Amino acid sequence: MTELSDSPRRADFADPETSGPPARRKLFIKSYGCQMNAYDAQRMTDLLAPEGFDETERLNEADLVILNTCHIREKAAEKIFSELGKLRAAKKARRAAGLATKIVVAGCVAQAEGTEILGRERAVDVVVGPQNYHRLPQLLRRADAVVDTEFPIEDKFDHLVKATPSQTRQRGVTAFVTVQEGCDKFCTFCVVPYTRGAEYSRPAAKILAEVEELAAAGVKEVTLLGQNVNAYHGEGLDGRSWSLAKLCARLAEVPGIIRLRYTTSHPNDMDDELIAAHRDLPALMPYLHLPVQAGSDRVLAAMHRKHGRGAYLDLVGRLRDACPDLALSSDFIVGFPGETEADFATTLDLVRNVEFASAFSFKYSPRPGTPGAEFPDQIDEGIKRERLARLQDLLEEQRQAFNRKMIGKTLAVLFEKKGRHLGQIVGRSPYLQAVQVTASEHLIGTLLPVEIVAAGANSLFGRLARPEAGAGIEEVRA
Ligand code: SAH
Ligand code: SF4
Ligand code: F3S
Repeated sequence: MTELSDSPRRADFADPETSGPPARRKLFIKSYGCQMNAYDAQRMTDLLAPEGFDETERLNEADLVILNTCHIREKAAEKIFSELGKLRAAKKARRAAGLATKIVVAGCVAQAEGTEILGRERAVDVVVGPQNYHRLPQLLRRADAVVDTEFPIEDKFDHLVKATPSQTRQRGVTAFVTVQEGCDKFCTFCVVPYTRGAEYSRPAAKILAEVEELAAAGVKEVTLLGQNVNAYHGEGLDGRSWSLAKLCARLAEVPGIIRLRYTTSHPNDMDDELIAAHRDLPALMPYLHLPVQAGSDRVLAAMHRKHGRGAYLDLVGRLRDACPDLALSSDFIVGFPGETEADFATTLDLVRNVEFASAFSFKYSPRPGTPGAEFPDQIDEGIKRERLARLQDLLEEQRQAFNRKMIGKTLAVLFEKKGRHLGQIVGRSPYLQAVQVTASEHLIGTLLPVEIVAAGANSLFGRLARPEAGAGIEEVRA
């Protein structure tokens, strides 16, 4: 038992309804894992603003610290406990100065480990799952340590939309909007169906309202998020079930929104309508994250991916027929139980066949509670490491080749912020590449044609293809 669990927090976290308007306090929030977690962190910040919390980047001045955690691989989850150790020290230092600090563990580790977190780290005050963070204001008013990881009946998004006057807060040029949550696929390696629960699609009207507000706040590009985003089947504006393609078509009509992206997709949910949208909908960017995980049919079957190598390659062919300039990215897992050298070779072969513009690749990490963790033939760490290195060399080669191919082309770049060096601004190409250009800051927020002159390790470099004055906003692809 540490002496920190009974810190002098009560007075500082009193119910504002009984004690007048809330005093301004500081919130430090750190998000790990996927973009959906980043979106959730933003919504928690929005939700806590009317409670009196302003965001800070300085941990030592924070009255409230939220770690929005990820459970996808062991490393990600363990990192949280070392972070919590540091937070315990920070809380102690503040307490010595007479200041109360509340520590919240949110996200997927919270969902997966629940009360165990309180047992392992007594400095934690609140453990809240990804489906429950709309209840944070109430949970924070509790004097005792509390865990909330039920899958609630009510829709958290309903509470969040009501609680977000901050949509009017200054936004950047790009924004994420969660449209779908959860997963029913149960790949044998993956914790997501357990931490995020069953698949759920938000109604189109709610998404449209959110995108309209973002557009009004200056957002030009929206990325629709979901663990299985292309399985979207929310209630449409006409009362019928809408597909992701339909949703995209409607959102593309929102004045001010010039680009749409979506992530992450499962190959099996990539239907003809969505493939056609990549041909027909100019706002839909020609870049698709389409995880395949492995190239061997045997491994894919053991992973319970429900698609084989042939089906994936066929899908890539159909996508490229519909949209010849479509660039692809993917996720890979090496060293899944039972993966032989021959299986791994088929992964390399698939990569050579598809040619990815970018990719994420991981060593298989057995996750407690998932079937894969119980499979025999777990692969030696050394072999995993060696296979990962070989795969990453190939993927990196392809990424750089793809970037080099851009030299001499004119790409539409949506400028997002100041660049690395003075006088530079940086934006994204249709293929999500960072593009650095020497140009005036007032062009941030505009979409302009840029001639690519060089490709660096992580950015492209270009020059405006037309003089600033005459440039209009139109989509020009490679
Ligand atoms: N919903 C997405 C992926 C979510 S997790 C999808 O279905 O594609 C992001 C990536 O993490 C996965 O695509 C997978 O490559 C990787 N991943 C998931 N579980 C893993 C595990 N146990 N070990 C290693 N990598 C894993
Ligand atoms: Fe995880 Fe598979 Fe669902 Fe993706 S589709 S979230 S990898 S279970
Ligand atoms: Fe991680 Fe949860 Fe996202 S486990 S990848 S934060 S859905």
